[in-house]
Amino acid sequence: MSEEITKEIEDLPGVGPATAEKLRSASITDLMEIAVSSPSELAELADISESLAAKAIRGAREAADVGGFETGDVIFQRRKSLKKLTTNSSKLDELLGGGLETGSITELYGAFASGKTQLMHQLCVNVQLKEDEGGLGRETVYIDTENTFRPERVSQMALALGMDPSEVLKRIHVARAFNSNHQMLLMDSVSDLSKECSIGILIVDSLTAHFRAEYAGRGALANRQQKLNKYMHSLLRFGDLNSCVIAVTNQVQAQPDAFFGDPTRPIGGHIVGHTATYRVYLRRSKGEHRIARLVDSPCLPEGEAIFRITQEGVGD
Ligand code: GTP
Ligand code: MG
Repeated sequence: MSEEITKEIEDLPGVGPATAEKLRSASITDLMEIAVSSPSELAELADISESLAAKAIRGAREAADVGGFETGDVIFQRRKSLKKLTTNSSKLDELLGGGLETGSITELYGAFASGKTQLMHQLCVNVQLKEDEGGLGRETVYIDTENTFRPERVSQMALALGMDPSEVLKRIHVARAFNSNHQMLLMDSVSDLSKECSIGILIVDSLTAHFRAEYAGRGALANRQQKLNKYMHSLLRFGDLNSCVIAVTNQVQAQPDAFFGDPTRPIGGHIVGHTATYRVYLRRSKGEHRIARLVDSPCLPEGEAIFRITQEGVGD
């Protein structure tokens, strides 16, 4: 290990023991977290001036070796180390290029009962499978904003995969978020938790429900989008730092002026759309069948897959 990697926060220019302490109490314990902060954000968190914050960020960027250019082959090598988490439906996995990718945000949006929460429950279980079984052999964090997490459902899915339900449930860390502010604050607890256990997936079900309810009306839209943007970036940063999957759900809203095509679109518009790497639109089909449509992805073709939701969970 090089000397730079072991560098502590207090070794940064302009950061003494007192500032380091403030940063730690704001849950910033990692050079990389400082390196990817903005000066105003860091200044606010650590209660220091913006110029001091900018100095610390520059130091952290050098130490953590970020911000420079990389050649395509280096990025290609790194992308090869990304892992895929199975959905338990081979068709859906194929649509996603093998499953949900670590280090990215996958957004699943659709109307009520389209299967978003069911799929999230399935991922809670699958992430605990070994890598050669399509899992990551790691634990789950589940941010539940709608009070729809059901351990009973997890147990059914775990049993169907031959796993011990009580052991599986012990590795799922669930937090209720009571409003959008609380939801954002929970990221601090999630960071703390990630130091104690290896988190393979962070689920937010639903990403937008609180934001939508609290910031109603045209006048509140800019504020809502700004908060959502900040939140999306904190999710992305967490996924990057921990090499884990980020899966979020989103509702759709009716588009009053849509005469053609699908009359629905996801909440949060471009802000959510641009930060989520993969967007999947779910809709109901006959009975237990569901249709997933890959809407937006940097390197996969658009397409559709049909899967099923049964007592045993998600499957083909
Ligand atoms: P909202 O959160 O309301 O927007 O919907 P959602 O997309 O999260 O829906 P959810 O994933 O909760 O899907 C609910 C649907 O899943 C139900 O209407 C059922 O059709 C199906 N479902 C849930 N549990 C079971 C089960 O045990 N067996 C079967 N066959 N289907 C189930
Ligand atoms: Mg739901």
